[in-house]
Amino acid sequence: VTPLRLALIGLGTVGSGVLRILHDTAGRDARLGTVQVVGVAVRDLERPRDLPVLPPLTDDPFALVRDPDVDVVAEVMGGVDLSYQLLTAALKAGKHVITANKALLARHGQELFALARAQSRQLRYEAAVGGGIPLIQPLEQCLGANRIHSVTAIINGTTNYILTQMATRQMAYSQALAEAQALGYAEANPAADVEGADAQEKLTILASIAFRIPLPPLEAIYREGITTIDLPDVSNAQQLGFGIKLLALAERCPDGRLDLRVHPTLVPVDHPLSRVDGAYNAVLIEAEPVGSIMFFGPGAGGGPTASAVISDLINILADRPAGPTPADFAQPPPGYLSIDEVQT
Ligand code: NAP
Ligand code: HSE
Repeated sequence: VTPLRLALIGLGTVGSGVLRILHDTAGRDARLGTVQVVGVAVRDLERPRDLPVLPPLTDDPFALVRDPDVDVVAEVMGGVDLSYQLLTAALKAGKHVITANKALLARHGQELFALARAQSRQLRYEAAVGGGIPLIQPLEQCLGANRIHSVTAIINGTTNYILTQMATRQMAYSQALAEAQALGYAEANPAADVEGADAQEKLTILASIAFRIPLPPLEAIYREGITTIDLPDVSNAQQLGFGIKLLALAERCPDGRLDLRVHPTLVPVDHPLSRVDGAYNAVLIEAEPVGSIMFFGPGAGGGPTASAVISDLINILADRPAGPTPADFAQPPPGYLSIDEVQT
């Protein structure tokens, strides 16, 4: 069996989870036993790493992505500019690419997916939305018979964790955020979580696959985070029979345009999304002819997110074709979005 040679870019919460899975492949897909980790790019070579086995580390990620002995590059580093340069270089060098980076895809995904297609290489991103929930592949492939009317989602684990702690333990917002950071749920800069930017980035990806359109610009998605919500807001909502959730919504308006929004929402306590607690995520889809479908599971954290990264690796190992991707969808007519890129 020819081994698959993997380069990992990033060895933080998610990257460590990936190495842990690859270290102990017993009971998992047998093909994972053929994966060789050629090298791992990190920022700080001196940082102690609590891992059973450490592959060779480098602080030169470009050398790794251009290494002729690498077949697949998995980017779990985060950030936009450097990741964009690295993944462009990797695809141009003929590598398959896996990324968990929604901030990157929301800004440069259209170009990267087109490049992957031109290079006949795969760009897979199951971990970029919904953490450990199998979401991208089911949406791309299993719901292909459907016309999707709406997506209503909790797709940020950090904010859902904070709102849950505020509601169930009357914990102060700042303490709940500190816990979410300590548990590995938050972005390197947690402003992306609490200001709704992370959910906005994920929503553009979801909207693209759900409505089979190129990635809508972030400016076309109304965004409001949870930074102004305090304990009295949460308890007042509870007394009225509601929970507060940060929802990401994508729906077809009666006039045919798409409405894309991220904002805190009062959700009745008997609604299924109201029971999604902690760092769990859920994506509720209304579609024709299937009806209502809800995806639910851990939306953040090292183990769940690494599970999604590895599922991409297994698909590449199995030589399963990816897609369709945003690069395969035709641009709708001008004015198809309810907010036409007027926000900043
Ligand atoms: P993290 O814990 O902050 O880890 C980032 C890793 O990237 C670290 O190992 C860091 O090296 C390395 N790195 C940073 N800058 C670098 C550079 N210039 N050159 C080489 N390596 C560099 O981040 P994370 O939570 O694992 O998240 C990684 C990605 O996954 C992000 O795109 C995030 O949005 C996405 N994601 C995260 C989760 C989650 O629950 N955490 C879930 C889904 C998706 P050092 O170790 O030396 O500092
Ligand atoms: N910071 C993100 C969240 C990680 O809290 O949902 C998962 O994408």
